[in-house]
Amino acid sequence: MGRRFGILTSGGDCPGLNAVIRGAVLKGETVYGHTYVGFRDGWRGLVYGDILELDRTTVRGLSNQGGTILGTSRFGPYSEPDGGPENIKKVLADLDLQVVIAIGGDGTAAAANRLFNDGINIVGVPKTIDNDLDATDYTFGFNTAVEIATEAIDRLRTTGNSHKRCMVLEVMGRHAGWIALHSGIAGGAHAILIPEHPESLDQICAWVTSVKNRGRAPMVVVAEGFTLPDMKEAYSEKGLDGFNRPRLGGIAEVLAPLIESRTGIETRATVLGHIQRGGVPSAWDRVLATRMGGAVADLVADNGWGHLVALHGTQMARITFDEALGKLKQVRPEYYDEMRVIFG
Ligand code: F6P
Repeated sequence: MGRRFGILTSGGDCPGLNAVIRGAVLKGETVYGHTYVGFRDGWRGLVYGDILELDRTTVRGLSNQGGTILGTSRFGPYSEPDGGPENIKKVLADLDLQVVIAIGGDGTAAAANRLFNDGINIVGVPKTIDNDLDATDYTFGFNTAVEIATEAIDRLRTTGNSHKRCMVLEVMGRHAGWIALHSGIAGGAHAILIPEHPESLDQICAWVTSVKNRGRAPMVVVAEGFTLPDMKEAYSEKGLDGFNRPRLGGIAEVLAPLIESRTGIETRATVLGHIQRGGVPSAWDRVLATRMGGAVADLVADNGWGHLVALHGTQMARITFDEALGKLKQVRPEYYDEMRVIFG
């Protein structure tokens, strides 16, 4: 008789989550005879036993849908007063579930590892729009975000050209500037500012001025986690999120008036925000997410508790939570410099 597993999506959403759920359910049901349920709203659904049944019909046509049909939250499994391993073991036993599949980022993997060490059968699927997990070469959702940000650059350029303005586009990227770098390269930005590499205002203004001097409208792309040399931390004025991290966003609004007053060039800021996390996943992300779903069905069939699936090169791989945790994949200086030499 096949076993019964519970899937949850935790942390910030991103395009491709539904394709993972579909991939896992289809392969698990078809190849292994497993049955699945989904926990609603991340760890909260696990702690309170709030589930929905998942089968072939529930996941039909899901791979092109953004968001997550399960809902998500930044609620931790050890949250008081009802969280913790003993309660979770009881919930799983009451629901006749043997395993938890947690789809999420670094915070989710850390919580999953703690539950694993507390005796719960749990596996993971890495997820972040920022593409900053060292465990995997790519996370689904990143490609879609780059497409959306690139389209935003293309659109901002035409209005920037009309008015001969400097346009500053802010994209996501807390610790790593992958979305900024890749969309900036694709969109032909004149300066790309990322968290890994502080740049002085003098340097940014020099690039902007040289673009303007040759008759072009300067296009600057900045990641939300970018800091000027005199900033102690990334710009945040919206308090903390559910995982106690500062809510980022707004560095473009800081930069635009500074650039304008230094250079005399009229400058406008656009913060792309959650637009880049919503909507249909790109074909590339659908493929990766579907493969990750299938790979996690294989993982649970092999009793691979304490592991995450990952993409290494073109192959699906498995690594332990311990190996994956806390290791950021940031933009290497050589890669950034490859592009920086043509800024301005
Ligand atoms: O961690 C992924 C991420 O998209 C970051 O780039 C961003 O800072 C954060 O999530 C936004 O989170 P929220 O959706 O909770 O505002």
